[in-house]
Amino acid sequence: MAHTRAVIPDDFELPVEAFDIPLCYQGDLSGVVIPEGLVRDRVRRLAKDIHAEIGNKPIALLCVLKGSYKFFTALVEELTNARSACPEPMTVDFIRVKSYEDQSSTGQIQIMGLSNLDELKGKSVLVVDDISDTGRTLAKLLTTLKETGVEKTWTALLLSKRVKRVVDVPEDFVAFEIPDKFIVGYGLDYNQKFRDLGHICVMSPSGIEKYKNN
Ligand code: IMP
Ligand code: MG
Repeated sequence: MAHTRAVIPDDFELPVEAFDIPLCYQGDLSGVVIPEGLVRDRVRRLAKDIHAEIGNKPIALLCVLKGSYKFFTALVEELTNARSACPEPMTVDFIRVKSYEDQSSTGQIQIMGLSNLDELKGKSVLVVDDISDTGRTLAKLLTTLKETGVEKTWTALLLSKRVKRVVDVPEDFVAFEIPDKFIVGYGLDYNQKFRDLGHICVMSPSGIEKYKNN
């Protein structure tokens, strides 16, 4: 069943000045694309959709670190509520994947923390990731999971960028579809900064300059 995504139009940005932004990031942002409260509302419904589709079977949730840590926490909480009458528990696992430097995908994807992947053998796994851009990261991860002997996978994504994928990947549950902009906040980083920002935002030129690596 296809689920309705919340689509953010290309030109949609709210003024940063209208939101409570931590002091350390003031001046570093040019617009709020998705306020944190909206993420929470959307994740609640997404959890219900996931439960309706997957049902009461045992399920392992795999958090793709670091970007999805906030989304994962919110989703697990909402899924716990959605599954309150469910006789089977869910389990949680964590993996780290790295591919980005500054604002672009390096094309080289490192998967770390693979040793405990054996625990997922024969299981039904919901892969929880922050964003799909080129699709390369998720594609590599799904292949790795299949090779490990995972029985079934679904994907839950906080964000899907409106951009042509380099690799096509299944996007089973998507919270928001967003324009092709580099965004930060709610777990997503620019050279490790902004993960702790609640709202999903676009950086200002001075923010980009300030935290540039090279
Ligand atoms: P892909 O392999 O190109 O699909 O990229 C996926 C990964 O790149 C995501 O899991 C993020 O960690 C990172 N990424 C892609 N787009 C953005 C963005 O706009 N902001 C921050 N990180 C991003
Ligand atoms: Mg990621």
